[in-house]
Amino acid sequence: MRTLLVLLALTTAAVAADPAVIEKGRQEEQRTCLPCHSLRIIHSNRLSRAGWNKELDKMAGWGTKYSDREAILEYLVANFGDDKPVTPPDMTTDGSAKK
Ligand code: HEC
Repeated sequence: MRTLLVLLALTTAAVAADPAVIEKGRQEEQRTCLPCHSLRIIHSNRLSRAGWNKELDKMAGWGTKYSDREAILEYLVANFGDDKPVTPPDMTTDGSAKK
């Protein structure tokens, strides 16, 4: 039974990583998230699937309207999952505000 569950989980992960869905999610992110803040605040995070799910719920509470929530979630997990290395923030060197 345990093996079956592991296999099921692996199959689901393989389906979830569909590049077309991830690309859709990337486009949806532009439309859905940019009205309120830059992408930097999103892309600097590394979260688990559960973490991104909670984050999307939190944004919904602030009025985010999703037309393809599932695709955005897959895109975020694939690119900014907690298994991905953290990139250092891109800073100006003279203390000036970032453009
Ligand atoms: C209705 C406005 C709104 C929309 C649309 C929105 N957000 Fe946010 N988001 C906020 C606010 C407000 C904050 C917190 C403000 C800040 O810290 O600048 C925030 C902060 C965040 C953070 C930083 C962590 C946190 O919880 O504070 C992440 C990650 C995030 N948003 C992800 C997203 C994603 C992904 C989308 C698109 C699916 C999205 N947001 C769309 C309002 C929004």
